[in-house]
Amino acid sequence: MKIAVLPGDGIGQEVTREALRLLELLELPGLEVEHGEVGATAYRNQGHPLPEATLELARSSDAILFGAVGDPSCDNLERHLRPEQAILGLRAALGLFANLRPATAFPGLEHMSGLKPEIAREIDVLIVRELNGDVYFGDKGTRVREDGQREGWDMMSYAESEVRRIAHTAFRAAQTRKNRLTSVDKANVLETSQLWRDVMIEVSAEYPDVELDHMYVDNAAMQLVKAPANFDTIVTGNLFGDILSDQASMCVGSIGLLPSAALGERQTDYGTFGLYEPIHGSAPDIAGKNLANPMATMLSLAMLLRHSLGREADAERIERAVAEVLADGVRGGDLGGSATTTEIGDAVVTKMVSIS
Ligand code: NAI
Ligand code: MG
Repeated sequence: MKIAVLPGDGIGQEVTREALRLLELLELPGLEVEHGEVGATAYRNQGHPLPEATLELARSSDAILFGAVGDPSCDNLERHLRPEQAILGLRAALGLFANLRPATAFPGLEHMSGLKPEIAREIDVLIVRELNGDVYFGDKGTRVREDGQREGWDMMSYAESEVRRIAHTAFRAAQTRKNRLTSVDKANVLETSQLWRDVMIEVSAEYPDVELDHMYVDNAAMQLVKAPANFDTIVTGNLFGDILSDQASMCVGSIGLLPSAALGERQTDYGTFGLYEPIHGSAPDIAGKNLANPMATMLSLAMLLRHSLGREADAERIERAVAEVLADGVRGGDLGGSATTTEIGDAVVTKMVSIS
């Protein structure tokens, strides 16, 4: 069993360090943990944001724990040398096509959400976003038309196989939750969406225990803030998923609490290969000051244990410890509290020991 740890830049280093304390505490038999460089750190030391050695390490692992990349000192570099190319390069090179973004309310934090507390309290949704296709990857360009106007275009397209593989990921995820899957599209106007819907229905035949329904994306955006409790698992394309997942995460309240997974097709001996990271970036404004909330990275580690290593009980232990520490009132600056990164780490470690 091997995990590649890529802390990256800024607070990526600090939050990853705290998450690794939890991993050590679990004492998984036969686990190998190897560190690699990405982002500005890798550019400074090795001349490239995603060095070949890091890619090799990632390929030879069962899962990747990723911190964050990004550094203001790199703003003037050519695009292919910018730190952010590391995460894009890893997703592409490793075929990570399924982005899992859970947004779950934590008891006691309802007032941090922009929603009414009684609505925010109910959120427990998993968004499964397709990550390799759609309008981001279709033919694109700009030109000057004959009438002299400038014109830009981005083609939205999905191949059947791309929809089918994300459908399987989403149905399987729904099976580990409340067996309800909402497929979000715009089938009333888009051909890609009609294909998406048809394939979802075809695949649903293989998952008779999961209840599938369909919703137009504009309605889904509305329902997410009006009655989020009506959702369990959502599956959607790259563009709609980009927007809806950010929307859902803000319903929870803080960027320092939200984990994510990017899964591929490759199966390991223990589960599905994937890359796990907090949804936040490298936060240069607070980097190196012991102010970052490491909980999003801890919860990303829990997802790693669940999906890539088949360690559900360990995943739940971390999730429970984080929720209880929050309920105890230990809060980082992102939640209006004063607990430092290491203090939050200490509190979660202590909690983990007490609930073993
Ligand atoms: P950011 O997520 O790094 O920070 C946004 C705000 O939230 C900042 O005020 C920051 O202090 C705060 N924040 C973020 N995480 C926090 C935590 N764990 N605890 C407490 N406060 C936290 O986004 P921003 O500022 O737009 O980007 C900074 C750099 O990160 C950029 O270079 C950007 O490209 C990169 N980035 C990298 C990502 C990745 O590695 N996947 C994702 C998003 C941004
Ligand atoms: Mg990130």
